[in-house]
Amino acid sequence: MKLVVTGSKGLIGRHTVEYANTQPGVAVFGVDHVGVGSWPNHYRMADLTDLGQTYSALAGADAVVHLAAIPDHGMVEEPKLFMSNIASTYNVFEAARNLGIKRVVWASSIQVNRTVLMQHDTRYQYLPIDEAHPVDPQNDYALSKYVGEVMAESYAKTYGLSVVSLRFTAITHPDNMKDWPWAKATAPHWALYAYADVRDAARACFLAATTELPSHSHHVAFIVAKDSMVATPSAEIASQFFPDAEVRGDLSGNVSLVSNATAKRLFGFEAQYSCRK
Ligand SMILES: NC(=O)c1ccc[n+]([C@@H]2O[C@H](COP(=O)([O-])OP(=O)(O)OC[C@H]3O[C@@H](n4cnc5c(N)ncnc54)[C@H](O)[C@@H]3O)[C@@H](O)[C@H]2O)c1
Repeated sequence: MKLVVTGSKGLIGRHTVEYANTQPGVAVFGVDHVGVGSWPNHYRMADLTDLGQTYSALAGADAVVHLAAIPDHGMVEEPKLFMSNIASTYNVFEAARNLGIKRVVWASSIQVNRTVLMQHDTRYQYLPIDEAHPVDPQNDYALSKYVGEVMAESYAKTYGLSVVSLRFTAITHPDNMKDWPWAKATAPHWALYAYADVRDAARACFLAATTELPSHSHHVAFIVAKDSMVATPSAEIASQFFPDAEVRGDLSGNVSLVSNATAKRLFGFEAQYSCRK
């Protein structure tokens, strides 16, 4: 199969290309708007905010893992971030449906649930949260991801694609986790202290792109390590900081406050790495 990975020069993209290249029967092609690829025949430079360039970049693909984006609030002016992220995601869906590419996996974010730099505090109805929990996007970045999920739903239902929106939590290289877990949970409780090792994120992308899923279907799945990134016990975080949230699942030890059940059920993904070694 031909797998195209957009954002292939970025953190998750590089690892996804690297992981997919170890898998049998897969020809991997990277796409990014910067630099050159280490596999020149397997790389195309393209700005995915341009529909024509997106068509060329995705031609011949059986599946696309779309990771290209401006990856957080504050990196560029807000309108530019929003317009760039929704344009590239729209173009990927539009090219996929016209080129007959049936599977699109793309990077959403836990920030649809709780923006990092919040305008107002967010209450959780229950813990651990899962994909059914109401969303609360509060800035340009979170909104671009939420709108992307709406597009994913529409393209799946209308044009028969099977789409997986991966809600990544904080995706981190092991070199950056040397001092983890953090000692203590303190406000503003960034994204419930959920994270995943980039090697797990890469494998999740590959599994989501290659596991059999029905057409006309859109799935949203958190990609999260089994534990939190903080030493404070999860039940203590819940009772101390989110007393109104109904406890609906296991909160023993430092278990993640974000459920990983959907990714496991849909495409057999379970995190293998932990910041606790
Ligand atoms: N890293 C995280 O913690 C995290 C968490 C949640 C969601 N995400 C999402 O996962 C995806 C990958 O994140 P990352 O951490 O690897 O980011 P990154 O910035 O390392 O990589 C993104 C890549 O996309 C490319 N890109 C941006 N706009 C483009 C365009 N218009 N055309 C072509 N290429 C373009 C960039 O050049 C870059 O190489 C992003 O969509 C991000 O929003 C990341």
